[in-house]
Amino acid sequence: MMKNRKTAALLLLILTVSLTLVSCGYVKYPAAGSESPGSAEASPAARQDLKWWQETIAYEIYVKSFKDSDGDGIGDLKGIISELDHLKDLGVGAVWLTPCYVSPQADNGYDIADYYDIDPAYGTMEDMDRLIAEADKRGIRIVMDLVFNHTSNRNEWFTASASGKDNDKSDWYIWRDPKEDGSAPTNWRSIFGGSAWEYNEARGQYYLHTFLPEQPDLNWANPDVRKAVIDVADFWVKKGVGGFRMDAITYIKKPAEFLDGEPDAGDGMVGIHSMTANTEGILDYLNEFKSAVQTGTDIFTVGEANGVSAEDLPDWVGADGVFDMVFEFGFVDIDLPDESNWCETREWTLPAFKQIFTASEEMTSGTIAGGWYPMFLENHDQPRSISHFLPAGADRAAGGKALGTLLLTMRGTPFIMEGQELGYINVDWPSIDDYDDISTKNHYQFALDEGYTEEEAMAGVHRFARDSARTPMQWDSSENAGFTAGKPWLPVYDDYAACNVEEETADPDSVLNWYHSLVKLRDGHRELVDGSYEELFPEDQQIFAYVRENDEARAVVLINLSTESAAYDASCVEQGELLLGTDGESEKGLLRPLEAVIYEIRK
Ligand code: NOJ
Repeated sequence: MMKNRKTAALLLLILTVSLTLVSCGYVKYPAAGSESPGSAEASPAARQDLKWWQETIAYEIYVKSFKDSDGDGIGDLKGIISELDHLKDLGVGAVWLTPCYVSPQADNGYDIADYYDIDPAYGTMEDMDRLIAEADKRGIRIVMDLVFNHTSNRNEWFTASASGKDNDKSDWYIWRDPKEDGSAPTNWRSIFGGSAWEYNEARGQYYLHTFLPEQPDLNWANPDVRKAVIDVADFWVKKGVGGFRMDAITYIKKPAEFLDGEPDAGDGMVGIHSMTANTEGILDYLNEFKSAVQTGTDIFTVGEANGVSAEDLPDWVGADGVFDMVFEFGFVDIDLPDESNWCETREWTLPAFKQIFTASEEMTSGTIAGGWYPMFLENHDQPRSISHFLPAGADRAAGGKALGTLLLTMRGTPFIMEGQELGYINVDWPSIDDYDDISTKNHYQFALDEGYTEEEAMAGVHRFARDSARTPMQWDSSENAGFTAGKPWLPVYDDYAACNVEEETADPDSVLNWYHSLVKLRDGHRELVDGSYEELFPEDQQIFAYVRENDEARAVVLINLSTESAAYDASCVEQGELLLGTDGESEKGLLRPLEAVIYEIRK
């Protein structure tokens, strides 16, 4: 692994240097499978045979918020079944469901008490079987969220383990004795705040929880645990699901020794991420999982890989990698130097933002055989992308279209977060009591404890609260946006009268209809799906521009992510025909604020 990493890092360095040397406006990266990675001579045009999940569009459903069928204010599986056509119209072929297994919901389902059953709030196993079948009729595969770094503390695996030191599950979690003074074994801070250790009377020991105390970490060093999680995955493969998103996967391997870290805040603790993420040896566990679960199937896996960077990718994705794709977080954290502290943001530039995508695209397409990238700008843990990446005050609809263009025309499988196709923005509720998410409340408290004012702490909440991605789906302009006939578990955002599926379907200029146009375009212009990726104008401060090319055509995508007009060297589109533009006709060489255009040169 180290050797691969070094080779990859060297390649990255060479490519970075070439990037600064190329003065003619763009850099070329070869398509997957081409002979000489990194060479400007390599054919960018090789047409690829793609797997089903590389050609499709994925969509994330936050189950609790998508559609409620029974008026209890909570989204459910029957609700999803009733809205499958919305997804089909968006060209979606894979639907990632956030966890809907039995759970006490301390972290909205990411605390699983029974991997083999559906939480009654969401329905029954029969509903799930029907959902898989109904989705299948529309060419859609269901993707389950596997949460295997931890379980719920109410999972019977844990209750057995916590009951004493000698039962067959006693070593299934991470137990350690207290320090001599009775305090926690290390000074690690959990990702959601507070110590990462919780004391258990029955054992006289602490257990480790990377997230909430209600989410104890499994001990993957124990082969019985590894077998148990493989059995769970097999169960769902047999049900006919199309793949798995694997939660918090970079934390499953713990270091050999548990040592205190240098405190990084006034609480004397150090964030657990820096102590345990991506620990040497993790790939052995993941390789074992992959060969046991995926062999002989056509399912895909996508790992939530916080802590994996572009240079690690060869070990993580591609034919020899442990996953088919991994979500990386370099670009979502571009404005957040320290994940625990939402009050300190940093300035960032568009070239730096673009470079993060380009580095991963270049690595997955150029260096890794069969490497593939999951393109996303939002998920249920992140701010809405319009609020996150565009200048304050950017027009919602124009911004949604500009970012939608990026999402649906980059190389890789696009993952749409529910509501993104309507142009959702962050909520800005006045009080912390209006928010539901436990991590948001903990971040707020952390800020106050660190001495920030209430106003500063709330500003952090408005920027980063996970609730912004979780407000109910807005279907129409009726009460509660057609999400529920009851009282929604989280308020519907107050822009729902204009921003909903029904209104946007009727409005030819809506974000939703722009998504539909892009989906159609991908169908008819395959270079947008299987073509290589070359970044144009990497130093440009306003425009994200790139070429997607196969042996039939070359598409040039130009997106102005600023709220000012932006000029560019039009030679890259001289022979090009405008396929699609957010503002209709476009003058070559000039983009209006937030304008996105796609030109094509056929061969
Ligand atoms: C990542 C998930 O996306 C997030 O929602 C969850 O809170 C943590 N992992 C813990 O499972």
